[in-house]
Amino acid sequence: MSTERKRVARQINKKENVVVFYSGCAPYPLVISKIAKPKQIIGVEINKEGHLYGLENIKLNKMNNIILINEDVKKVLNELEDEYDRIVMPAPDNAKEHIQSIAEKFKKVKNIHYYDFSTEKEIPLLEDKIRKMFKEKVNLKTVKCGNYSPGKYRVCIDIRKI
Ligand SMILES: C[S@@+](CC[C@H](N)C(=O)[O-])C[C@H]1O[C@@H](n2cnc3c(N)ncnc32)[C@H](O)[C@@H]1O
Repeated sequence: MSTERKRVARQINKKENVVVFYSGCAPYPLVISKIAKPKQIIGVEINKEGHLYGLENIKLNKMNNIILINEDVKKVLNELEDEYDRIVMPAPDNAKEHIQSIAEKFKKVKNIHYYDFSTEKEIPLLEDKIRKMFKEKVNLKTVKCGNYSPGKYRVCIDIRKI
């Protein structure tokens, strides 16, 4: 996934405030912090051990713009202010549970990186479904970034509000 993490990180600029939901042991926050040096990155991970490894990784890499929260995304969604520029959702099994709420709540966000699994044929259907969740006009760009099973890909849909 290192190529994919770098692809996302290279789109981010220094002025941004970024949220990474489902941050695991923090590989996305770390790569984003190193490459893009944004103002702040918040990571949210429900698994305690994953979260603790994330804290250790931040310490080892001496990153000072990352805050990690050990909590369920569902709960954190109610608590975060609508003040972020970009949201990254690197959990193709889980992101579909929260994308609708994120589309409704975060009006100021400009870019969302949404991960899912899809066959080639289903990509246009998935894009349609995502487009309909947003009241704003959005540009979508879908990137295949891994294999899940024969004919099924891990995909990232870059959602950019116009
Ligand atoms: C596929 S892993 C990806 C981890 C990391 N983003 C990476 O790229 O290595 C998905 C992660 O999402 C976390 N997760 C699943 N549901 C969650 C939820 N509702 N709230 C917070 N984290 C969640 C899991 O514990 C797991 O660590």
